[in-house]
Amino acid sequence: MITLGQFIIKKQSDFPYAKGELSRLLRDIGIAAKIVNREINKAGLADILGDSGVVNVQGETQKKLDVYANEQFISALSSGGECCLVASEENEEVVLLNTDVSKNAKYVVAIDPLDGSSNIDVNVAVGTTFSIYRRKSTDGNGVLEDILQKGTEQVAAGYVIYGSSTMLVYTTGKGVNGFTLDPSIGEFCLSHADIKIPETGTIYSINEGNYVHFPEGVKKYIKYCQVEDDATQRPYTSRYIGSMVADLHRNLIKGGIYIYPSTASAPKGKLRLVYECNPLAFIIEQAGGRATNGYERILDIDVTEIHQRESIFIGSTKMVLLAEEYMAQYS
Ligand code: AHG
Ligand code: MN
Ligand code: MN
Ligand code: MN
Repeated sequence: MITLGQFIIKKQSDFPYAKGELSRLLRDIGIAAKIVNREINKAGLADILGDSGVVNVQGETQKKLDVYANEQFISALSSGGECCLVASEENEEVVLLNTDVSKNAKYVVAIDPLDGSSNIDVNVAVGTTFSIYRRKSTDGNGVLEDILQKGTEQVAAGYVIYGSSTMLVYTTGKGVNGFTLDPSIGEFCLSHADIKIPETGTIYSINEGNYVHFPEGVKKYIKYCQVEDDATQRPYTSRYIGSMVADLHRNLIKGGIYIYPSTASAPKGKLRLVYECNPLAFIIEQAGGRATNGYERILDIDVTEIHQRESIFIGSTKMVLLAEEYMAQYS
């Protein structure tokens, strides 16, 4: 059995000039994930379900667990000393970690501390997504520009899924590996080595309740998924959890496509590029899949604001390519 900590150290040799900072940063994220997992597991017993009473910069009412998870990740990154700045879904501005240990650190991190907020109160899988970049400024406190980098610049990225079991999945640009938390020893253990997404699949994931608002290309693609055809195993299965991490994780293992398109009222969709789309796009590409906004690769999109939104078509390469053809033809 290989633990996450052992695996990270073993993989450090992939980066000949590395001094262990990135390894320690990934370790810090793993520690925060375990603490958040512990609270999520007993959420119904402790008084941590429900709303916090605060509305975040996205206009969403924060859940108590959104706030808790945000505090845990920022605190782990701050005391770990390898990250100087955090951009989080739950903070309007970037958070500077200007303690003596962290202000000169080399890395900056973007996080969605708790993905799938609407599922927290009903005991459905939720997640965390994270993205790690090398800072642009040289030393001292980090600056906003440090995090406004394209997804192609990610040094590492990953997600945690707090599901029927808890897993941490990450990439440093050399494939994707998944670790399952063994609660009896409190360690993430390598369970899914070198994950590859099937080239095609039979699952499509989209909030079909919004159908009338979708672009014509998406409407036509959904109809394609529903037409009977033995050769392509259609009609496909529709699966939508409403936690992007959980929907993505299932499609990564089984093959499938996840779409959160633009709508008339949300021309860039709902999901946030920096801490939702980019980390998941990096993971899916590293697993052999594809992630675009229907026209353009997610990882190539310019980043100008930490909370900017982007439409996303992500998953098995052949399915995403076909959805893009529908977009090109009808939207
Ligand atoms: P978050 O809980 O971090 O705000 O993210 C919610 C996102 C994502 O997890 C999910 O896929 C999507 O919102 C669901 O949105 P709809 O309810 O509009 O389908
Ligand atoms: Mn989210
Ligand atoms: Mn969130
Ligand atoms: Mn939210």
